[in-house]
Amino acid sequence: MLAVLTGCGKAQIIDEPESGQEEPSAQVKDAKVLVACFSFTGTTKSIATTLADLADGTLYLIEPETPYGSENSNYYDENTRAYQEQYGQLPARPAIKNTLKEADGYDIVLLGFPIWYGKAPRVVFSFMDTYSFKGKTVIPFITSGSSGITSAASELTSTYPAVNWKTGDRLNGKSSEQLTSWLGSLGIKVK
Ligand SMILES: Cc1cc2nc3c(=O)[nH]c(=O)nc-3n(C[C@H](O)[C@H](O)[C@H](O)COP(=O)(O)O)c2cc1C
Repeated sequence: MLAVLTGCGKAQIIDEPESGQEEPSAQVKDAKVLVACFSFTGTTKSIATTLADLADGTLYLIEPETPYGSENSNYYDENTRAYQEQYGQLPARPAIKNTLKEADGYDIVLLGFPIWYGKAPRVVFSFMDTYSFKGKTVIPFITSGSSGITSAASELTSTYPAVNWKTGDRLNGKSSEQLTSWLGSLGIKVK
């Protein structure tokens, strides 16, 4: 599968012909990109905003019904809501405030979040529970202090096996050019 740029700036997916087939038989359709992101202190949101802009996609911010207070920044404190949700002492599916409209209408979902205790914050699971994205391509991306994406991605892939997960990446500090090239490596071209 290959994504190319159209005249109107939309990313497209081309199902490339089998070798030996003629080029005109390639199937072309618009690839609608959703960038869905939870961000507590703005780092992931900033990356998500750039990705949505580059991919001509829709940015959706996953907003918990009750926002996380600043005390959650102290992630060594076991009494914080973030800690207790993550380790199962509070319900691990915090409610989401805002609705994603026409969730079925996207071909590719870029799913961004900060690493919390080595994993995705539980509100990301609330999001995935709500919009199953069964059979859809979902690509996680993270920011973190230092942790990689592997544990978070493997928890997501095992929790939602019906999703067509692609390998994601840690995107802290990436420039617009680097994000362009990351999108390209996933078959998503930019406007
Ligand atoms: C509750 C909490 C837990 C965190 N756990 C980790 C962690 O396990 N590993 C890590 O590298 N960074 C961890 N961090 C740091 C964040 O992942 C990092 O600062 C991230 O870029 C913040 O993104 P945001 O501004 O979009 O919220 C944690 C931060 C918080 C608030």
